[in-house]
Amino acid sequence: MDYVLITGASAGIGEVFARALAARKQNLILVARREDRLTALAQELSGQHGITTEVLAADLASPSGVETVTQAVANGGWALSGLINNAGFGDRGRFLELSLERQLNMIQVNVTSLVALTWSLLPNLKARPDSFIINVASTAAFQAGPNMAIYYATKAFVLSFSEALHEELRGDGVAVSTLCPGATDSEFAAEAHMTDTKLFRSGTMSAVAVVEAALAHRQQAIVIPGLRNRLMVWSGKLSPRCITRRLAGWLQA
Ligand SMILES: NC(=O)c1ccc[n+]([C@@H]2O[C@H](COP(=O)([O-])OP(=O)(O)OC[C@H]3O[C@@H](n4cnc5c(N)ncnc54)[C@H](OP(=O)(O)O)[C@@H]3O)[C@@H](O)[C@H]2O)c1
Repeated sequence: MDYVLITGASAGIGEVFARALAARKQNLILVARREDRLTALAQELSGQHGITTEVLAADLASPSGVETVTQAVANGGWALSGLINNAGFGDRGRFLELSLERQLNMIQVNVTSLVALTWSLLPNLKARPDSFIINVASTAAFQAGPNMAIYYATKAFVLSFSEALHEELRGDGVAVSTLCPGATDSEFAAEAHMTDTKLFRSGTMSAVAVVEAALAHRQQAIVIPGLRNRLMVWSGKLSPRCITRRLAGWLQA
């Protein structure tokens, strides 16, 4: 029996990953801070699909959160066939006007915990053929983002790190994919104070469409769901960096 471990499974894209994999009869380990939500989701999915679902309440803004997860996986003897590093958050505002603590927590959740979980759980994943890692970055990964400087930088890290791992693990039977969604329906925009930005007001993609693209293409190094998002990334690559970063800043001013 094997499991897919999903961080940030209590809401948004992570919850939809859980639902989509449960429908494919995949056993799950659900991680986030809001244990009540995880427990309700686990009970629903186990009841509906006859799968085994474990719940781990952990705060990934702290190194002890990673420790909680890796210890529980080791103690449970749970074999992993997939890891979805999805937990993350952003915050809109000028660098100096946002709290330092919140921005350092963002780096911890979006980057440090993602790296630590990947490093700690990789031997477990390598023990099975055809296992996978999906690291959730963003279209924000492709350029600098004035008014969300740290968030964009964390996602650039996730993309660069995961692309490198994709190549390193090519011969080891672990497919590493970086999921780069654009504006998506979830709790993210409210948490990041972005609901009134041009970016979110110009339309969002459903989390279901994002997850289906991610699962369908999980052998691919980079998955950018949706034509609009792909066009934005491609046009950004063709434009000078000074234009793309100003455009990103304008979209979330
Ligand atoms: N929505 C978008 O427009 C969008 C676009 C591009 C990329 N993304 C990325 O997609 C991923 C999922 O975001 P979402 O859109 O689904 O947002 P969401 O609805 O706000 O969900 C975020 C998830 O991350 C978890 N999380 C946040 N802080 C955590 C912490 N300290 N410890 C453990 N878990 C934590 C939350 O759980 P708890 O609060 O229960 O801990 C929640 O389950 C993120 O990495 C985000 O950067 C989102």
